[in-house]
Amino acid sequence: MSALDLVQQYSQTALAQLPGPAQELLAKPFTQKALAVLLALGVLRSVNKSLSQWTMNNWTRSERWQSTREIILITGGCSGIGKQVMEDLAKTGVRVVILDINEPNFKLPANVSFYRADITSSANIAEVAKAIRSDHGDPTVLVNNAGVGHDGTILEEPEAKIRQTFEVNTISHFLMVKEFLPAMIRANHGHVVTIASMASFVGIGEMADYCGSKASALAFHESLRQELKAWYNAPAVRTSVVHPMWVRTPMIKLLTDHESHFRQPIMTVQFVSDAICKQILSQNSGQVILPPSQSAASLVRAMPTWMQEGIRSIASKSLRRLREVQQREGL
Ligand SMILES: NC(=O)c1ccc[n+]([C@@H]2O[C@H](COP(=O)([O-])OP(=O)(O)OC[C@H]3O[C@@H](n4cnc5c(N)ncnc54)[C@H](O)[C@@H]3O)[C@@H](O)[C@H]2O)c1
Repeated sequence: MSALDLVQQYSQTALAQLPGPAQELLAKPFTQKALAVLLALGVLRSVNKSLSQWTMNNWTRSERWQSTREIILITGGCSGIGKQVMEDLAKTGVRVVILDINEPNFKLPANVSFYRADITSSANIAEVAKAIRSDHGDPTVLVNNAGVGHDGTILEEPEAKIRQTFEVNTISHFLMVKEFLPAMIRANHGHVVTIASMASFVGIGEMADYCGSKASALAFHESLRQELKAWYNAPAVRTSVVHPMWVRTPMIKLLTDHESHFRQPIMTVQFVSDAICKQILSQNSGQVILPPSQSAASLVRAMPTWMQEGIRSIASKSLRRLREVQQREGL
């Protein structure tokens, strides 16, 4: 008996267990066609997922994670997402190093070290890099997480804040990678994780600098991948980019203080950290959009213009509403 006959026999036996009306429905040609389409779409989806996964990993298999081999460096590890990722990774026993412009106001786990640094200064980065190398060795995972976000329209926002947004959210990625990537390339082992944002895909009002800096962070990640593969022959150095939507952290305190007017879903740092840690521990490259239900966001720029503008307008509306509330309350 062929495998196909066996499948047919099993499915007929299974069908016979269903109630009469369900059997009738499944016997209809329309239902069978619909099921065939769903099955084909399912197969297409998994083939697509596997192709993306293999391509992103340069058709090389990832090694198993060994905590003893890794040193994870997280920028902006003293607050919000970075702090949660630091705590969650530290629990796995791996060595974690955090860089932040602010001192931690909490007790560090035993396997975590803090170095104070302004990641917009290459001299400052070089100084702490020397200390990190001598204390721990070369970091094997770099999480470019530190970020800033200011409110205000293009005309309102002071030049210094606009410059700071690009310096911290984009330029620092270049500086950190210049310092820490060469060792990863030499070992053909490592992972650069870029914490971008959903703002990489849409430009909205009062966030022009932030959206620009996060679209640039995505471009940085894409170019880095190309250079690792085609210029440096380091196919096993992984690169991932993470695009969270709103996350409850001090960065968006202005929004969370008026959440009832903001009316947009806000994720917990734990939810976001779980996804980032999973990506790091998998040792796979990838693009992670959070929440996963919003994955279609990466397609926005491929949509017809009227649809793109509609999406940007919906997102801007929440911030505009918030501004009106703040003005009413005299904030
Ligand atoms: N909170 C959100 O809604 C949200 C959404 C999408 C993406 N993100 C991104 O997630 C990342 C983390 O943000 P968060 O929400 O946890 O913010 P946060 O404000 O809680 O933490 C940011 C950390 O970066 C540090 N930092 C800022 N400038 C620095 C500098 N020059 N040098 C060193 N450290 C510096 C801060 O001291 C702070 O500890 C950022 O890149 C942010 O853009 C946040």
